[in-house]
Amino acid sequence: MNISKKTLQISKKNETPFLIIDQTVLINNCNQFKKNFSNFLIYYSIKANNTNEVLKILIQEDINFEIASLGEMQKLQELNVPPDRIIFSAPTKLSRDIELAYKYGITTYTFDSLMEVEKIAKFAPKSNILGRIIVDNTGSEWPLVGKFGMTISETLDFFLHAKKIGLNPLGLSFHVGSQNLQPDSWEKALEKVHHLWEQLQKKGVHLSVINAGGGFPVHYTKDIPSVEVIASKIKKTAEKLFKDQTTFYIEPGRRMLGNAGILVASVINRTKRGEKEWLYLDTGVYHGFQETIEGFRYEVFTEKTGEDIPFVLCGPTCDSTDIIMKEVLLPDTVTLDDRLYFLSCGAYTTSYEAYNGYGYPETIIV
Ligand SMILES: Cc1ncc(COP(=O)(O)O)c(C=O)c1O
Repeated sequence: MNISKKTLQISKKNETPFLIIDQTVLINNCNQFKKNFSNFLIYYSIKANNTNEVLKILIQEDINFEIASLGEMQKLQELNVPPDRIIFSAPTKLSRDIELAYKYGITTYTFDSLMEVEKIAKFAPKSNILGRIIVDNTGSEWPLVGKFGMTISETLDFFLHAKKIGLNPLGLSFHVGSQNLQPDSWEKALEKVHHLWEQLQKKGVHLSVINAGGGFPVHYTKDIPSVEVIASKIKKTAEKLFKDQTTFYIEPGRRMLGNAGILVASVINRTKRGEKEWLYLDTGVYHGFQETIEGFRYEVFTEKTGEDIPFVLCGPTCDSTDIIMKEVLLPDTVTLDDRLYFLSCGAYTTSYEAYNGYGYPETIIV
């Protein structure tokens, strides 16, 4: 893939490093989700990219929002997003954040533990609750297993308890893991939801919402299934298993922004260490390329020409783990001040600065 002349021109007017977002691609992504999930409620997961300009476009496009913390809620509040367009989907939340979200008027909260049920009942009484269940994350390149989700018996017990203490059981939610390349994952997850749905009904817990979460993949270096293919799998399974009264949500993060962003960095040093050529850039693993820790790789573009040779790309910090990617083929002519364009960087890059809306701990000198 080549980069458009317009992008190259605009990018040259700015000092690196920066993330350039193409709003045409972003709006196109919104339309793709709206078209393929026409009867679903779409909640963008703002942890993927929480830049004000991005949020403003999504607001205009009538997209709703899924938040993880007060920090994320405040960003939306500042842009006058009404509470009925926001759900609080992080299964573990600060008590203070629940309390302030409730005051703002947010009515739907996710849980996956008994203590969270108690917290929601205390700080957001009588609210709607979604129970997040464990589902298989096979096919995901950024799995979300272990830390999240309830077993079948926990789901039954916790919902019964939640009902007893005044909460309103609304539905079940799941996440098949981020960057999931297998559409079957959503089908299997929905089958599990169906099984639980029926068991809950037998116990007097009647639900009406299924939140199929995120996981929609972006093209980095491998082929991916399209939103259309995944949507068709979800809709077919949903039609087979659930009646019309069920409302479906999705919470795309990565796929809404990923392909709309190009991260531009400059070469600040080049040297040979042993047999390997190293390029040092003005941004790295701690400043945008965190996902490379789990092995994510990006396509890299340069305007230079020459014979392709393998490079190690690393960040500027004094830390030997600050290595973005190894064995990246680039022209042997690449040198000081040349710019590198990393494709599909619109999601989970710059948002790590205050990830999920959480800032860094303050330092108190005693
Ligand atoms: C609760 C929740 N919903 C949605 C998402 C978005 O997932 P993705 O970026 O894979 O679409 C996440 C990501 O971590 C999440 O935690």
